[in-house]
Amino acid sequence: MRKIIVLFVVLIVSASLSAQQAVSIIPKPVSLVVKQGVFTIDANTSIKFVAGDHDLHNAASFLVASIKELSGITLPQHVQAAKVIQLIIQKTEQIGNEGYLLQVNPASIIIRANTKAGIIYGIQTLLQTLPGIRTNALLQVPCMRVTDYPRFQWRGMHLDVCRHFFSPELVKEYIDLMARYKMNRFHWHLVDDQGWRIEIKKYPRLTQTGAWRVDQTDKVWGSRPQAKEGEPATYGGYYTQEQIKDIIAYAAQRNVTIIPEIEMPGHVASAIAAYPQLCCSRKPQLPLTGGDYTNISSNYCAGNDSVFIFLQNVLSEVMQLFPSKYIHVGGDEVDKTPWKNCSRCQARIKAEGLKNEEELQSYFMKRIEKFIVSKHRKMIGWDEILEGGLAPEATVMSWRGESGGVEAAKMNHDVIMTPGVPCYFDHYQAGPEGEPLAIGGMNTLKRVYEYDPIPKELNEQQAHYVLGVQGNLWTEYVTTAEHVEYMVLPRMLALAEVVWSQPSAKDWNDFYHRLQPSFRYFDQRGLHYSKGSFTVSIKPQTVNGKLQVTLSSEIPGATIYYTTDGTEPTTQSQKYTAPVAIDTSLTLNAVTVVNGTVMNSKPSQQQFVIHKATGAAVSYVNPVSRYYMADGPNSLTDGIRGTLAANKYWHGFNGKDIIATVDLVKETNIHKVSLGCLQRYRDWIFLPQYVQVEVASDGFNFKTMGKDVNTIAATVTNPLIKNFSVSFEPTSVRYVRVTAKVLDGCPAGHPGEGKPAWVFADELIVE
Ligand code: ACM
Ligand code: ZN
Repeated sequence: MRKIIVLFVVLIVSASLSAQQAVSIIPKPVSLVVKQGVFTIDANTSIKFVAGDHDLHNAASFLVASIKELSGITLPQHVQAAKVIQLIIQKTEQIGNEGYLLQVNPASIIIRANTKAGIIYGIQTLLQTLPGIRTNALLQVPCMRVTDYPRFQWRGMHLDVCRHFFSPELVKEYIDLMARYKMNRFHWHLVDDQGWRIEIKKYPRLTQTGAWRVDQTDKVWGSRPQAKEGEPATYGGYYTQEQIKDIIAYAAQRNVTIIPEIEMPGHVASAIAAYPQLCCSRKPQLPLTGGDYTNISSNYCAGNDSVFIFLQNVLSEVMQLFPSKYIHVGGDEVDKTPWKNCSRCQARIKAEGLKNEEELQSYFMKRIEKFIVSKHRKMIGWDEILEGGLAPEATVMSWRGESGGVEAAKMNHDVIMTPGVPCYFDHYQAGPEGEPLAIGGMNTLKRVYEYDPIPKELNEQQAHYVLGVQGNLWTEYVTTAEHVEYMVLPRMLALAEVVWSQPSAKDWNDFYHRLQPSFRYFDQRGLHYSKGSFTVSIKPQTVNGKLQVTLSSEIPGATIYYTTDGTEPTTQSQKYTAPVAIDTSLTLNAVTVVNGTVMNSKPSQQQFVIHKATGAAVSYVNPVSRYYMADGPNSLTDGIRGTLAANKYWHGFNGKDIIATVDLVKETNIHKVSLGCLQRYRDWIFLPQYVQVEVASDGFNFKTMGKDVNTIAATVTNPLIKNFSVSFEPTSVRYVRVTAKVLDGCPAGHPGEGKPAWVFADELIVE
């Protein structure tokens, strides 16, 4: 008997403890008060709502299916039961279209909202308190009272299914993840140069031809050569209209509206592969495989009325499928050269009294908008649609920073903020060393979390035109479902809080703690996610002429351990408490430790070399590129070695030799000079042809000490660092001059063949 009582007490305590811990909702609700006790979902629980209400029936089905997956229990509807979950649509001023009130007591759960959207979000909050998968434990919802509503109406996520095709199952998983975190707009990028992904009944070749390309998955995206006639096009895929209808209904049940993007007038090489008469040259071509080519057609001809008839027919089918008020028509990155050389396009410019090709694009978008508006829909385009004149009712998606959004809002146009920083989830979230190959810069979890979508330039009235924010996942470098998950998790959760929660509620430390149950959820569901926030950031700096490093991590309360002997750090290694002085050559490794566990699969690493030229002044004959200044003029001798990332401590020169002279200040005995150089084929960076070393005592009469000739082919695509070295008998000198001879243009077969090559150097080591 005693034993049973003890067990009972332990059960109650652990139940209420786990309930307390479990109430970590993302995005953070407007108000959440946790109370004593739990509501246990079991066979004595039923669901109640106004019978015959279609929306509530739809929401209840979602809840019933979710509970069945987590417990095996099918909740009965509208039967007498000891405990009840009630869904009520009821006019409530404060919470708006998508808000909800959730009340959990031991005998009842009541969700009230103005609309089905709010009911769904009440259910999502409830689901976040439960385990991610079926376990043997009872499902217990902590007693609580929640009042919640969103800050923005546009809480978007984008997915590019053109650069790589993703299955309907992955698309549904993406929608599930969005819905769990109350994101409500799925921007489905269905058309691009490398694939047309939506079945159009009137134009079957769009998918028969345009959805398939020559398989070059063995090559890095940017270095893929143009496919040749006769090579089999086996890579790709598309969604049938039946699959699309199914996905739209799936999303609608979860309050996710799908906005299709039918890109135009550029980025449509896939459509032109199917129907060459749509472009200016009318020459046949194949869908692109990646790479960057100048001899293909990516644009529709803006002077050909048949193009508009084609697009109206396509859009008619699209609008029949998608109930979304918004239709996205792209409009970005149009290379206007084909239009300049096309007699039809030039005739259109003349006939319409247009000034130039920018106005021709504006004509194109306005004509399409007119059609879309005639069907009672609204047009969205990327911010390039501002150039040459904005279509009268267009909504602008600001991606090249926020300036397009600011400009449009000042013109009283709706805007959606999706600036590259921090909304592009194809950018790195950590590293970049140790991370899967990505495009662009660094959008860490914290950087995303700290985003404020209302630009300072807008006044209060203009700020109302900002409908919300969207995270974009372009997939040039993302080929698998696992990689899609990895790029959006957990950054989408940070964005969800940006768009849903009130700015005053935002708190990084609190968010990070609330993120932990989501990490468990991802683990339970086998979802891949980035632990990039655990990466230790290593920041070297020179203080009073001495080199020191600061170590930091985005994780609140984390401890950093490091080594300087090249070994992997453990919790037995040196604990970081203050900046570390570097006065000898060493390799620093550092890890983040949370609750006694090393969180990184690989430590962060930085190599330092202290040598006879450390800290010495360097002068260049040809100037260093302003894009690759590293940490200043003496980067070559700062003791910090460049890493495999092009933007980490390298000095870059475009099409010019590096001719660098180091002043050792006084006569110094030296016997070896080395120069580290980088090759990154994809970024047009190649090892030099050779490195030559000369020395002088007076700075004028240089004596050649030797030359190290490159032996590594320029066509090696994996990034690499090579040390070029020249050794000689010990010699007393003051000046050392090194010349790194740049390649005579990018190599044959490279996308930039014959164009100026880059040469990158760091560090110049004198021993
Ligand atoms: C874009 O990223 N080209 C909209
Ligand atoms: Zn044309």
